[in-house]
Formats: sequence, C-alpha cells, structure tokens
Amino acid sequence: MAADGRAGGESRALVYTSIATAAITYGLVGLGSTVRVTDSGMGCPSWPLCYGQLGPIFHYHPILEESHRYLAAIVSVFVFATLALALRSSRLPMLRRAAKVAAGLVVFQVLLGGLTVLARNAPWTVALHLITGLIFLASVTVTATFAVLGDRYRGLVSTARSWGFWSLGTTLVLLFSGTLVVGSGAGAVCPTWPVCFGNGPGRLTFIALLHRVIMGTAGVLIVAYLMRAWRDGDRGWRWRSVFLMALLALVALVGAAVAISKSAPAWADVHLAAAALLWIALVVQTFTLGAAPRMAEADTPVVQKAR
Ligand code: HEM
Repeated sequence: MAADGRAGGESRALVYTSIATAAITYGLVGLGSTVRVTDSGMGCPSWPLCYGQLGPIFHYHPILEESHRYLAAIVSVFVFATLALALRSSRLPMLRRAAKVAAGLVVFQVLLGGLTVLARNAPWTVALHLITGLIFLASVTVTATFAVLGDRYRGLVSTARSWGFWSLGTTLVLLFSGTLVVGSGAGAVCPTWPVCFGNGPGRLTFIALLHRVIMGTAGVLIVAYLMRAWRDGDRGWRWRSVFLMALLALVALVGAAVAISKSAPAWADVHLAAAALLWIALVVQTFTLGAAPRMAEADTPVVQKAR
C-alpha cells in the first residue's frame, strides 16, 4: 500500500468520506419522506429559520421538519469535503465529475427545499424536490462507488448498458408517480392489490392505477435489463443483480401493504426507503457495467470483456 493510503484504489479519506456522504444522503431522503407522509412539511412555515429560531423546537411537526434541514446542512458539508478530496486525490475523471455534479445539485436542492416551504408545498415544487433529491442521491452513489473501486475497476463493456439507463429513467418516472399518489391522497382509493376497483373519485383512481402500470413497466424493464447483461457481468455483478431483483419484489410487496393499509404513513415511509435503495442499487449496477472510466494518466484500465 502506498504512503497516502491508496490500496489499489483512492485515498482512504476519500473512500470513507464519500461512503459516509452517500449513507447520510440516503438517510436524508428517508427523513424527507417521513416529513412528507406525516404531513410535517409545513411544520416550519418559514425559511431558512424555523419560526425565526436557529435552535430546535421540540414539537412533533417542527422538530421533524427542522431535523430534515439540519441533516441537509450536514450532508452539504460532507459533499463539499468529498469534492475537495476528489479534486486533490482522484485520478478518475468520472469520480471527479460525479463529485462536482453532487456539489452543484446539493446547492440547488437546498434552495429548492426553501422554495418548497415558501410555496407552501406546491405540488410542482415537492415533485421537483423529490426528483432532484434522487438524482443527487445517484451522484453521491456514483462518487462513492468509484472511490471504492478506484483504479482496480475494470470496465465491463455491454450492449445492455443503454437498457440500464432506460431502467433508471423509468424508475425515476415511477418514483415521481409515487409522490403524486401521496400528494393527491390517491393511496386511499385502491385498498386492493394488484387489481384496483377504485372506490373514490375517478381522477384519484386514475393516479393510483397509473402508478401500478408504471410499476409493472419498470419491473419488466429492470428484469429484462439484468437478464440481458447477465452474460457480460462478472460474479459480483450477477450477485448484485439477484439482490436487485429481490429488492424489486420487496418494493412491490411493500407497495401492496401501502395499498391495503390505505396509505398508512409507516408503510408509505418504508415503501420510499425500499424504492430509494432499489434506485441506489440500479445506479451502481448500471454505472459499473459501463465503459471503463479513463485515468488521468496513461494507465487506462483493461476492459475485461467486449462483445
Ligand atoms: C440535499 C438536500 C435535500 C434532500 C436530498 C432532500 C430530499 C427530500 C425528499 C426525498 C423528500 C420527500 C419528498 C416526497 O416524498 O415527495 C423531501 C421532503 C421535503 N423537504 Fe427536502 N431534501 C433536502 C433539503 C431540504 C431543505 C434544505 C429543505 C428546507 C426547508 C427541505 C424541505 C423539505 C420539505 C418541506 C419536504 C416535505 C414536503 C411535503 O410535505 O410535501 N428539504 N426532501
């Protein structure tokens, strides 16, 4: 191992900081979902301070909303620490690019959070906040993935990679439709699963059904993608594919629990936590299947398989 702590990968500080950033960001997405499903979004009707106070306000809704803001501040510090380390110690352009994208997105997301509050949780700001939050989660995940792999990474070239990006896009649409279900109250009109007979206004039944149709489409696309890339992936990649399929089944099952429980907040929260985990796994899977990230120096990694 070299003196700067490199073990065939990036510096240890970069590896640990980027992993911590990704882990805390995942927690922040989960906490954001809790704020949403417990109707605490207006627990602090002002921004950036909650009722003009910097310190915590120990009441249920304000403390939930404040915790989300405090955690976002901690995430921001970690994101910029990762960026500083990546610019100093990484030779992988893809890693440095992902760290820069994450830094830009965290600033945008924090401002968007403020706008969400000032717009009194207008549906379009909430939806944009969720989508940006997930793309931000993807950027910190890619940063951490390549910090861990470092220059040990060997590109696995596969024609199925574009399928991976289609799967990611469809998953984003799925999560967007999920937030529409929560925001519109459509979760309560279809207490049966998988078929929905809709015992509420037609518009809500339509939103609930649309979410299920998108879930089915995303599920088929993800499974087709993983099967297609199976022959090109290595052992580790295949194990992660199995994990991803299990996770997909879990998200669908928890979705069923959300429907049957008429959107009980606890189930809705677990549903988004599991969906965000699926999103992370899909991001890792697709980005590591891609072309080898070039080194800054001449020692471009070997491409393991090319079909
Ligand atoms: C990197 C920073 C942030 C991330 C990744 C993030 C992520 C999220 C996520 C995933 C949700 C759940 C959305 C849904 O289920 O539709 C959420 C909700 C929310 N976030 Fe953030 N957030 C961040 C920063 C902030 C900041 C700084 C504020 C400032 C006040 C904020 C305010 C809110 C509010 C008010 C909600 C609830 C919206 C509602 O009740 O409808 N967020 N956030």
